[in-house]
Parts: sequence; C-alpha cells; structure tokens
Amino acid sequence: MVRMRRLRASSNIRSLVRETVVTKDDLVYPIFIKEGTNIKEPVDSMPGIYQYSQDRFGEELDRIINAGIKAILVFGIPAHKDEVGSEAYNDNGVTQNAIRAIKQKAPNIIIIADVCLCEYTSHGHCGLVCRSEILNDETLEPLAKMSVSLANAGADIIAPSDMMDGRIEYIRNALDKNGFKNTIIMAYSAKFASAYYSPFRDAAQSTPLFGDRKTYQMDPANGHEAIRECENDIAEGADIIMVKPALAYLDVIKDVSYSTDYPIAAYNVSGEYSMVKAASINGWIDEQRVVMENMTAIKRAGAKIIITYHALDVAHWLS
Ligand code: PBG
Ligand code: ZN
Repeated sequence: MVRMRRLRASSNIRSLVRETVVTKDDLVYPIFIKEGTNIKEPVDSMPGIYQYSQDRFGEELDRIINAGIKAILVFGIPAHKDEVGSEAYNDNGVTQNAIRAIKQKAPNIIIIADVCLCEYTSHGHCGLVCRSEILNDETLEPLAKMSVSLANAGADIIAPSDMMDGRIEYIRNALDKNGFKNTIIMAYSAKFASAYYSPFRDAAQSTPLFGDRKTYQMDPANGHEAIRECENDIAEGADIIMVKPALAYLDVIKDVSYSTDYPIAAYNVSGEYSMVKAASINGWIDEQRVVMENMTAIKRAGAKIIITYHALDVAHWLS
C-alpha cells in the first residue's frame, strides 16, 4: 500500500518535501502616483490601496522598503490628458519625476515602469485612435519615446502593457540607440481582455471612453495564442514575459512555462485582489491563508515573479 500520508505527518516533514515556496524576492508591488501635492486618496474598489502624490509617497516607500520588498511597478496619473497622450513622454511628467525621486531616496529598489498610453490619453485607449480604430504602427513611436524617457528618469525595467504588435522590437531598438542597452524589458506578452481590470481603471483613471480593448488585448478563450504572443516577444527581445491576469489563467502560465525557459511574471490583477479583500472584510474567508494559497498557486503554475497588490501584506506575513 502506498502511504502518501507519511510525508504529511508533521510540519517539519511537510516543509522538507514542499515543492513551492513563496519568498519576498518574488514580489512586485504596484503603486499609483498622481500629479499634484498632498494627495493620499483611497481607491474605493481596492481597499488598502491609495493614490499618492509624489510629496506624500515617501511614507509609503519607507513601508515598502522596511517590509523587504525589492521591486515596485510604477503607474503615473497625469493632471492633463490629450488625444495622443503626450504627457507619457514628457521628461518632467508625473511618472518621470516620481521615478527620479524614488531612485534618489532608494537607489537599490528595482523600478519597473509600465509603458502604455491609456493613463495619458483623453479617450483612455492604449494606442493612438483614428475614427474609433486603435492604430498599431503609429502607436509604436510614442511608446518608444515614453520608454526612453522613463529609462532616462531611472527606470530599471520597462514594461510595455499596450499589446500593440511589434512594440518590443521597436522599444528595444529605441532603448539601445539612446544608450539604454542594459535596461530590461518585461513584456506584458499574454495580456487578456479581462473584466478583472475594472478596479485598476478606477485607480489609474484609465477607463476607455468608447468601445473596449478587445481588438488589442487577447481573447480569454485562447491558450495556444498566448504561447505565440510569448514567443514573438522573446524573438523581439523581451527579457521577462508576463501572463495577466494570474488566477483565472494558471493553465496559461503552466503552458508558457513548458514552452520557454525565460523568466515568467504573473500579474495578480486588481479584480483578483478586490474579490479577496471584499470576502475577507466580510469575514467570509481567512485573508492570510487565501492570499498565501493564491501566491503559492501562481508560483506552482510556473511564474517566478508575482506582481500583486497583496505584496505588502505578504511581505509582513513572511517576516
Ligand atoms: C494598462 C494596464 C492595465 C493594467 C495594467 N496596465 C489595465 C487595462 O488594460 O485597462 C491592469 C492591472 C490591474 O487590473 O491590476 N494598459
Ligand atoms: Zn493601456
């Protein structure tokens, strides 16, 4: 008789045979910096998450560093938006200034800069728009300008989240040409057109004014296509690839992990966070156990890097 329970008999034997361990090294914490002063604004749909102005962000940065988090993902929210999202590549824009300030205060923290136009365009789409079409090729140049501007401000990793075709190669070339050969690209490669992003759109004020993102983000029904997206981005020069969202797409993470040896990041997105928070605020689930189970599941599926709004809590629980 096979006695599986032998290896479950005590906490020590369980940890000796444990296959998957989540550590602080795996965590990336997303942050929202809003243009202006003296802002600490709660995001209603994401309990525990705030928009900060740069002058107030210092207190949060101390918490992040003291918790032992080593990487953050920065989203800027500009005061002025226009049709083409020109604030995205303003060298003195909200995101660029925030990155410079963070680098000065905490030179070792890894700064990942999200590259996309949707927080900067008046229509809220991730690319340039002409008669309700989201333009692909015309969007590459502003994305490249934004990437160079963010690298110049001190971003260690550029993370294009727009899902335009060909942007990784275009951005890689622009970075190289401008002296940023060593800037890492983390590509949002398999990013699905998901209903799980809606709390984020409150936080980043980036809800599209018309239509949806289905002509550029992936169809949630397609797993094989996710592998092609990842292969394309690797061929174009991505250093790290991403699957997003995470929990409803663990199969995709697993399939991608079998198809490549590149490091995989998974984005445990806003809606996934808010659902756990809502249930735990109501006392319906044990927040710590559910979150740690989710983190473990994401890693077990094959992701090394976990981008999550739970990162601060997870880091505390791991201490
Ligand atoms: C912008 C972007 C989105 C997220 C990260 N970057 C949302 C979107 O496509 O509207 C989602 C993050 C989250 O839901 O936590 N391109
Ligand atoms: Zn976008």
